Amino acid sequence: MKPLTFTSSLEVYDSLGELPEDIQDLMKEAFKARDTAYAPYSKFNVGAAILLENGETVIGSNQENASYPSGLCAERTAFYFAGAKHPGVKMQKVAISAKSHQRAMENPVPPCGACRQAMVEYEVKQNAPIVLYFMGETGKVAKAKSVQDLLPFIFDSSCL
Ligand code: THU
Repeated sequence: MKPLTFTSSLEVYDSLGELPEDIQDLMKEAFKARDTAYAPYSKFNVGAAILLENGETVIGSNQENASYPSGLCAERTAFYFAGAKHPGVKMQKVAISAKSHQRAMENPVPPCGACRQAMVEYEVKQNAPIVLYFMGETGKVAKAKSVQDLLPFIFDSSCL
């Protein structure tokens, strides 16, 4: 038996103001995207903004459905939109913000597992890391240097 050990680390900033201006701007795009969420069931709005290597920004928000599993998270909405609108253009950074109508979200809200899997597909495809910044409505911001820091030991096309 040989142990297989994974290590990953995140950076956590006390507030958005600690981050460079371009990241603050990207997060503000995520805030705006958050307001476009259609979340009548969870009352939990999420917005994502992706900065592409061509300088364009693509946004997404969660879109829910009366048939609950038919809804889609903000991150996947944004990534699939970027893939469809700008095929082959690398994704450099993504900012994500969540806001609940029920309680204050003051800590970073990490992307769900299904979104991590969807995002890592693009990271592997483009052979370059996608940097993630995620937060609640206010407060701390977490930074991951790569999707794979949130999803070690990935299942990707090399497994097929
Ligand atoms: N949601 C996202 O948009 N992103 C995530 O990573 C986690 C969850 C959405 C899905 C659903 O509309 C609501 O948040 C509550 O789960």
